[in-house]
Amino acid sequence: MNLGQVYTKPSVAQYMVNLFTLPAEARVLDPCFGQGAFVDALMTDGRYNVIGVELDPKSYAANTDKANDRCKLYCGNFFVLDTAEKYDGIVMNPPYVRQEEIDDMQETYGVSKERLKSLIDVEIDAKANLYMYFLLYAIKLLKNDGELIVIFPNSWENTKAGIKFKKALTANCKIGKHITVTGNPFVGDPIVDVEILKLYKTSRSIDMLSIELNVDGDSVEERAIANTNDLEFGNAVSLSWYAQIRRGKSTGGNKIFINPAMFSTQCLTDILSSPKDVNGFTTKQAKTDRYLMITSSDIQLEPAVTEYLDEWKEIIKKEGEPKALYDQIEQSPEAWYVTNDIGAGTIVFPYIIRDSVRFILNERKLLARDNFYVITSAIDKRLLMALLNNYFIWYQLEKCGKTYGNNVLKIQKYDVDDLQIISPEIISSEDTARLKDLAKDLIEKADLQIIRQITEVLAKYYENDNIENLLNDARNKRLKR
Ligand SMILES: C[S@@+](CC[C@H](N)C(=O)[O-])C[C@H]1O[C@@H](n2cnc3c(N)ncnc32)[C@H](O)[C@@H]1O
Repeated sequence: MNLGQVYTKPSVAQYMVNLFTLPAEARVLDPCFGQGAFVDALMTDGRYNVIGVELDPKSYAANTDKANDRCKLYCGNFFVLDTAEKYDGIVMNPPYVRQEEIDDMQETYGVSKERLKSLIDVEIDAKANLYMYFLLYAIKLLKNDGELIVIFPNSWENTKAGIKFKKALTANCKIGKHITVTGNPFVGDPIVDVEILKLYKTSRSIDMLSIELNVDGDSVEERAIANTNDLEFGNAVSLSWYAQIRRGKSTGGNKIFINPAMFSTQCLTDILSSPKDVNGFTTKQAKTDRYLMITSSDIQLEPAVTEYLDEWKEIIKKEGEPKALYDQIEQSPEAWYVTNDIGAGTIVFPYIIRDSVRFILNERKLLARDNFYVITSAIDKRLLMALLNNYFIWYQLEKCGKTYGNNVLKIQKYDVDDLQIISPEIISSEDTARLKDLAKDLIEKADLQIIRQITEVLAKYYENDNIENLLNDARNKRLKR
């Protein structure tokens, strides 16, 4: 049975506990303490009264020596806690268990999807993961003005279930900190894309701070992401709420894997190498390269491919580079060329910008190389094209990009994560239809006038009708015109 047992590193747990701004003697709950990383961090902090719950009797037993007057630990199911009893703070790394597996816990622990649904008062998608129920139930246990700090994978941000979840999450809470985690915050090597949120249960307005946290081994380093907007955009939310943004594929050795000179077409995939290879706003007619991408060591390779790879293996061993491949050969000489498939995104974005900014619809579902960011989202693709191809986004990119010789802008991933887009839910159905039509025209005609028309539709949502002038000023400044 999967209880979602992935443990937080002590340094990350301490970092998270330090995010609390609660008064001394506040009551702080960890609803699923596992090996006790947060319990330890809270006790180190020393200011709070700690309450911990854990379902797994073995994990509970391994922590009982930590219990004392200021630290009460219970073995049992978090979902039976009485919602009449509230906590000032909650800190958690909830179990990540797919909806198909939740009912497996019914017999032993009495946890079932049916039961969980009845416990939360907000609408939640049938595909919701266990951690979503955890978070929503925890909010019910939080006092007004209480603080909740959670670490969890951010994959929900680009799913339909995630859109409903976000709505439920923000029904009673405000997000004070949105922390994108790079590196591995967990013990072992379990999950890649993770975030930390600090939520306040309040109706007062809170400015969300975006932060990047880099975890390197046991050390954590925080970096505030400069608030790039000197404008307050009404109704806007970070793109990362609705989309997952990744860097495109790094081949590890272009000479070896791009357009390989071998007598076989096995495992060759079309890949988009350069923004120059795309005309306009769609990958439909893009020029592509062939990429030798082998995603599993179980694939039976044709002799021509094996021969080709063996030749390269010898060269790499002799020359000691590319270094990453050399190390790979040392570690796993049989499968050194195996790489993961990152999938094709809905939209690709060349992040080195000279003049034109283009979010390009990936109509051919092409893999893109690492001079693109790849954007995946559950939002309708034409609507997303309109939400990204407009002067409000261009302006934000002008403000956040670091110039990089020759007045060229280089946009960092966290800046793309933090682009302020208009939340699709608040756009009227009439405007949504108009935006989709305009995006369709943009994709077909690549006429830049359409960008202005999209901007005009969005202006009332951004509550700003002066963006073109602001954009021109910012751009002229960069280009020293
Ligand atoms: C992702 S782990 C996190 C553990 C710990 N808080 C940490 O960060 O290292 C989730 C924990 O939730 C526990 N768990 C799963 N379902 C639970 C439930 N219904 N009530 C309480 N704990 C539960 C699991 O046994 C597991 O230890």
